[in-house]
Amino acid sequence: MLTIVKGPYLQWPTTDSMTIMWETSEPASSKVQVLVAERIHSGYQGNYKKPDQIHSTYSQEGYSTIHQLTVRDLDASTIYFYKIYSENEQGEVESGPYPLKTAVKKGEPFSFTVTSETGGYSGFDPSNGQINKNIFHQMQRYRPDFTLFVGDVVNDGENYEDWEKYFFGPGKEFMVNTPFYSCLGNHENNASWYYDFFAFAPPKNYYSFDYGDVHFLCLDSTDFIKFENYPHSTGEMSPGNTQYDFLIDDLKSTSAKWKMVFFHYPPYVSGGYQVEDLRQLCPILEQYGVDLVFNSHTIVYERSHPLRAGKIDFDEGIVYIVAGGAGAMPQWLLPKRDWHTSQSLAVPHFVQVVVTSDHLEMRAIDEEGRLFDTFRLRKDSDSKKEFY
Ligand SMILES: [Fe+2]
Repeated sequence: MLTIVKGPYLQWPTTDSMTIMWETSEPASSKVQVLVAERIHSGYQGNYKKPDQIHSTYSQEGYSTIHQLTVRDLDASTIYFYKIYSENEQGEVESGPYPLKTAVKKGEPFSFTVTSETGGYSGFDPSNGQINKNIFHQMQRYRPDFTLFVGDVVNDGENYEDWEKYFFGPGKEFMVNTPFYSCLGNHENNASWYYDFFAFAPPKNYYSFDYGDVHFLCLDSTDFIKFENYPHSTGEMSPGNTQYDFLIDDLKSTSAKWKMVFFHYPPYVSGGYQVEDLRQLCPILEQYGVDLVFNSHTIVYERSHPLRAGKIDFDEGIVYIVAGGAGAMPQWLLPKRDWHTSQSLAVPHFVQVVVTSDHLEMRAIDEEGRLFDTFRLRKDSDSKKEFY
C-alpha cells in the first residue's frame, strides 16, 4: 500500500515561491495544490475560513520516492495553504491542507528559531527522544517564519532510519508549516541523505540566502576541519579552497543590513569541543560586518560577548551563539567560564531571533518554554551597532 513516510515539509522560502517535499513508501507521482482561504476573525482554523479556493496546481512527470516541487507566483509575506498528492498502481495518498508563509520583503520584520543536536545528543539522552519533541513543540508555539538547524540532527547520517527517528519524526508537526535550513554536523557524516532530503542551493553543504533585511550564510565546518585532522585545520581555510573563496565572495557581494553565519563547530565556547582553529575565519567575518554567528557541537547554550580581533568589542564585535539545542551536557562545560563568555547554561533549548530593519532581539528558551537569556542590538542607518 502506498503511504507517506516523511513530511510534507517546507524548504527554501522566497518572496514568491516555496519548495514542498515529502517521501512515499514506493515510487509515485507528485502533485501540489496551493489553496487560499478568506480571512475572518473567528471560527474555522483560527482566523481563516476553510481553504477551498485553488490558487494553483503543480505536478511533475515521472515517479519518485523523494518528492520535491516548487510552487511559484505567490505574493510575499503571505499565508497560503497547500495539499500534496501522490499516486501509483498501488493507490493514491494525499495530505493537507497545511499553512505556508512566503518570505518577507526587505524592510519587513520576521522571526526565526535556531536549534541543533536532535540526533547528536541521542547517545546520551535519558528521555529517549522526548527532549527533541519538547523542543519542536516549544518552537511551534513561537510560530517562527523559519528555523536554522546547526547540525547533528541525526546520530549517523548514513543510517536511513535515523532521519525519521531523530529529525523528521519528532519534527513532523513543526516542519509541515515551518521551512528550515541546516548545516552539516559531524554526525551527518556528509551522507547522501542530507543532499537527498534537503532542497538548499547547490552545493548544499554551504550556501547563502536573503530573508528580509538579513543575509544568511551557511558553512560546512566539517569540510574546513576534516574528520582525520579534527580539531585542526590543515590549510583548507586559505585562498584556493572552494568554500573559503565562496565565503569571501559571498560576504563581499551582499549589501544586506544584517549578516548572520551558521556552521557546526564552535570557535568560541567555554567547554569541551571548542574548535579554536576555526577562529581563522573570524577576521573575514569581522571585515565584512557579520553580526551573529550560530554554532553547535558542544551540547550546551552559550553566548559570547561581542568579539573582534580576539577581544571584547561592544562597538563592532560579533556575538557567537552556541545553540547546542536539543540536549544538555553540563559536564561538557569548563568548571568556570572563559573570558569570552557572556551567558552559558547546559539546558535543552532553542534560540528565537526577532528582526526588524533597525533592531534585533534574541532570546534563549528552554524545553518548557522558560526564557533564560536575552539581548538586543540596534543598528542605525550608518550601520553603527549598539547593544542594549
Ligand atoms: Fe557535533
